[in-house]
Amino acid sequence: MKRRNFISAAGLAGLGLTFSSFNSDTERKKTKNIRGTFSTTDNRVSIYTNAQVKPARIFHITDTHLSLDDERGVKYKQFSKRMAGAYKSNTHFQTEEKYSTKESFENTLQLAKEQDIDFLALTGDIFSFPSEAAVDWVFQKLNDTGIPFAYVAGNHDWHYEGMKGSRQQLRKTWTEKHLKPMYQNNNPLYAAYDFNGVRYICIDNSTYEILPEQLDFFKAQAKSDTPIVLLMHIPLFMPGRSMGFGCANPNWGAKSDKNFKLERREQWRKGGHTKTTINFYEKVFNAPNLLTVLAGHTHHQSLDIKNGIPQIVSGHNATGYYSDIQIDSLP
Ligand SMILES: [Fe+2]
Repeated sequence: MKRRNFISAAGLAGLGLTFSSFNSDTERKKTKNIRGTFSTTDNRVSIYTNAQVKPARIFHITDTHLSLDDERGVKYKQFSKRMAGAYKSNTHFQTEEKYSTKESFENTLQLAKEQDIDFLALTGDIFSFPSEAAVDWVFQKLNDTGIPFAYVAGNHDWHYEGMKGSRQQLRKTWTEKHLKPMYQNNNPLYAAYDFNGVRYICIDNSTYEILPEQLDFFKAQAKSDTPIVLLMHIPLFMPGRSMGFGCANPNWGAKSDKNFKLERREQWRKGGHTKTTINFYEKVFNAPNLLTVLAGHTHHQSLDIKNGIPQIVSGHNATGYYSDIQIDSLP
């Protein structure tokens, strides 16, 4: 039942369907009323919309930090060594048992299967570095569940530490070379996945920054009368939060980059964020059809609300954490 209800953006384009812009005041009013309400308790979230959607239950999974590897990764060892040693043993967020990241990911998928979850939203750092063995394993495991999924990269997924190149270049290279299957023929930088009347929008902000084509894509989605859920790795800036909330953070930039030497990567941009990234931030929190932002990166659960729009950050799946999200129409 799940595959039938699942249409990717590529599929929509193929059918000649495009996203509508406002034609009248009536339509504008309708769009403004899309957002309903939400509630959250522990790792459970309920999101209600005024639009007519079929109920769906999704698992939001982020930051598993898998580091399994095989002989194909030997030549990259000098670049994967540090992260391959990270997250070796993790305490489960509920049971406090010790698990490997591999077990945590498997257990989460098993639970999703047992509970008949409709959709999986993966928001990056599923891998600690772009290991072909890990990508093969995850892709197989996801397909074995039979549950549709959307994936967007985190800053570690494509990063071999110490390898020459800018963040953008390295992301492009390793997305194409190793991560490609995860995108299921969609654009890795921005894509839309339709499920049960809700559009899941993936925007790759794993460099902390937004590109002009990503901004244009989001603007078009925000004009649609379909309720949208935004999936990204790095949370958007919220006053009072740490630099983990670095996308559009006014303090982000070369001066606040503490880890570029440790992570052996290009330093953050001198002079801070581009106008495009700041503009994206404004568009997101003024999108009338946006139900929620789902992100990861900080490894800690958090909730912020801006202009009535919740930004929910999930804890890291290395500890077995997942957000169990129900999306439904208001009665
Ligand atoms: Fe992470």
